[in-house]
This record gives sequence, structure tokens and C-alpha cells, in this order.
Amino acid sequence: MKTRPEKNEILERLVITIDGPAGSGKTTTARGVARRLNLRHIDTGAMYRAVTWKVLETGTDIRDGDRVGRVALDICIAFADHDGSPKTVIADGTDVTDAIRSSEVTENVSLVSSYPLVRKAMVRMQRRFARSGGVVLEGRDIGSVVLPDAEVKIYLDASTEERARRRLKELEAKGVTKGMDEVRESIERRDRLDSGHELSPLKIPVGAHIVDTTDLTIDGQVARVCETATRTAARLFELMTAEKDPNRFKREKPIYRLGRLTILFLARILFGLRIVGREGYEFYENYVYASNHRSNVDPPVVGSTIGRELAFLAKESLFRNKLFGKLIATYNAIPTRRDAFDRRVIRRALALLDAGGSLLIFPEGQRVAGERLGDAKAGVGYLALKSGAPVVPIYVSGTQNLGRALIRRPRITVLRGRPIRVTDSATAEPTGANSREFGRMVMSAIETLHEDFENDGKLLGGS
Ligand code: DC
Repeated sequence: MKTRPEKNEILERLVITIDGPAGSGKTTTARGVARRLNLRHIDTGAMYRAVTWKVLETGTDIRDGDRVGRVALDICIAFADHDGSPKTVIADGTDVTDAIRSSEVTENVSLVSSYPLVRKAMVRMQRRFARSGGVVLEGRDIGSVVLPDAEVKIYLDASTEERARRRLKELEAKGVTKGMDEVRESIERRDRLDSGHELSPLKIPVGAHIVDTTDLTIDGQVARVCETATRTAARLFELMTAEKDPNRFKREKPIYRLGRLTILFLARILFGLRIVGREGYEFYENYVYASNHRSNVDPPVVGSTIGRELAFLAKESLFRNKLFGKLIATYNAIPTRRDAFDRRVIRRALALLDAGGSLLIFPEGQRVAGERLGDAKAGVGYLALKSGAPVVPIYVSGTQNLGRALIRRPRITVLRGRPIRVTDSATAEPTGANSREFGRMVMSAIETLHEDFENDGKLLGGS
């Protein structure tokens, strides 16, 4: 039996992301929030700075993306808790807290953080820092790319004028005198550089709670974020402890349950099916489950691992055979034209979600061969944002080439991640642009599961 969580436990395990432009007060706010809610604080800007420091320190050619990338892959970064502020940053055993704020590092960090290998290494490290929860991460791409499944996503904003004023004050405190115009120009230049990244440009994560800090004090900013976090924790607590008919979302009609358990049984004994992360995040609500797609058996196999009745989207051509069409209709397949954004299908899927049903979809829209994942079609984002149902990312591996199973038993693995949910519905009104963006967030979460599988698939355990 699962014991019920305490309200505080949820708050203690939250993942909070704070993104925003230079000078919006991210670091001070994140530090304040972490202190007040007793969470760890990870300054991801400091991580890119530490890599830059190491590159300069070791005389690595800063224009050589591969070499710089190798430095990022090898570096060991730790944040030591220290009573005084700012937080101590250790890079490969050296205290670099002050060194990473030097003007030499500041001038070069944008270039270093633009290299794909550097981003890959840092993103991986950031996801590891966040894995056990109870953490505030601040940066540029945290809510959108690094941790789309964070429960609380904040975007801090402030006018350029105000940010320049703050920077000027900071410099004055350090005894550096500079003109307002020069500081404003430097802020604008950094904005351009930071939003121009091809890989992870600075942007407002879909569903983030935007806090305009122009007229707020630091205490005010901290209070706003803490309020949002507390409200989210309370909502999650309610979802986990619903008293009224808690199993409403998990009902299955007998024929569905029979079919599902049969497939689950066969997949286990024939193909060594292993499920990781099952029921880890069971809430009393309905979901859009989103999985990568490699094989025709993905819908029944992935579907069988989810202990509730689901609907699926299926190619119209599959219904041509009357008998087969009837069979898949029994298992809630909705006929879909795959070439277009099918309004009729979207309407049916939305009606189903509104009635409390759950849906399994394959955002890539078609099978994608090889190890690479495809891009999401706009449908998944639109459905999720329009219905408000959180999206559970799923990574499936090993369903390809089941025909060879007679020679060598493949091992199918289904990895389930944490639901991607919206912090503030005001920034999640579906449009074409943010539906696509949400789809990217979903694929990014599936990619994370893929990485987990590649990196420590053998250690993941599961049943
Ligand atoms: O917030 P900061 O000034 O310490 O950030 C230093 C640099 O790192 C900044 O130029 C942008 C980059 N950065 C990034 O690309 N992605 C992040 N998540 C955090 C920082």
C-alpha cells in the first residue's frame, strides 16, 4: 500500500525552474526561494561560467567547439552550501566562486555556452541535479528544454531600463564606474546573444508563470515565487488524495482489461517487457500519454503498461479490413488521416479528455527508425493545452524487429516520466506557435528518458 504523502513532502520534493534574461534578478530570487522553502539551489549560469573559466585556465582554444565540449564533458561542478552569499561554486576541486565573475569569463561565456556539446554536457548534469527533486534551478532554458516536467515554472522579466539600472548599482558596489548607456548596450547585446542561440534560446516556457519584476523588490519577487510554489503543491496534494471516487480515472471495461492483461502477459514472457517508473506519479486525473514510435506493436505494448483504459489514434487505412477495424474500435482506436491536422479527430479526442478519459498518442505522427527521435507534430501540444490534461512522456525501446525474437529474445523497455503540466494557464492558451513549442517540450522530455535509458539502462531496475 502506498502511504499518503504529507503536504510538506510534496513541497520538499518540488522542482522549480526560474528562467529570464540577464539582470531580471534570477539568482537572488532563486537563492531566496531556496532558503525559504528549504530546497537546493542550482545556478546554471554559474555552470556555463565554470566551463568558461576552465577553458581559459587550461589554455584551450575557445574557438574549437569540440575541444571546449570535451572540457565541459570532463568537468566536475559542485555547489557547496555556505552561509554567506553568494553560494560557493567548486570546479574540479577549485573554489571558483569569484573567478567565474571576472570580466574575462563574462566576455567569453556566451560563445562557450553556444556550443552543442557544452549544452549537452551541462543539460545532462542539470537533469542529474534535479532528479531527486527538492531543487530550484535558474537559467535560460530550464523550463523549456532541461526540465519541461518541472512542476513550477517561473519566467522573470523586467524592462531593459530597470535591468541596466540594477547592473549599474551592482558595478558601483564593486567600485567600477560605467555610464548608463554603456551598461544598457551591454545588456541588449547579451539579450541578443542569449535569444539567438539555435539550440536553447531564451524564451518563455509554455505554461510558465510570468513575474514582471520591474516594480518589485527582491522580497516581493521571492514571495511571488513561493506563493506559486505553495499553490502548486496544494493542488498536487489534492490530486493525490482525492476522496471522491478516486478510481474513476482508472476504470476499464472488462474486454479492455482482458485484452490489456493478455498483451502485458505475452510481452513479458515472449519479449522480456520491463516497465520503469510505473505508477510512480499516480494522480487522480486524466492524462495524454505521449510515446516515441518505432513499431506497429507500440500502441498495444505501450498501452498495456498503463493501468487504465485509453483511447488511441489509428490510421484510417487500418479500418479497411472490417474485422480488424471492429477489433481496434473495441480498444478505442479513433480513425485518423495522418497527413493533416484532422479537426474531426481533434474534436473527438477533446471530448474524450473532457469526459475524464485518457489518450495515448505518438507525437512524431509516424514511425521513426533508428535511435534518433523525430519532431512532434502540432497535435499533441494543441490537445494538451486545449484540454489542460498533463502529458506523461514515455520512451519505448526494443519493439523493432520483433520477428527476430525467435533467434534472440529482445528486451522491450517502457520508461515513463513525470507529467508535464502547466504552472499558469494564462500562458498556455493554445496557438499554433505554442502548440508546436509544447510539442518540442514533450519530445525533450522523451529524449531525457532516452538518455536515461542509454546511460544507465542496466541500472534502472523496474519490473
Ligand atoms: O546568468 P549568467 O549571467 O550567470 O549566465 C552566464 C551565461 O550562460 C549567459 O551568457 C547565458 C548562459 N546560460 C545559458 O546559455 N543557459 C543557461 N541555462 C544559463 C546560462
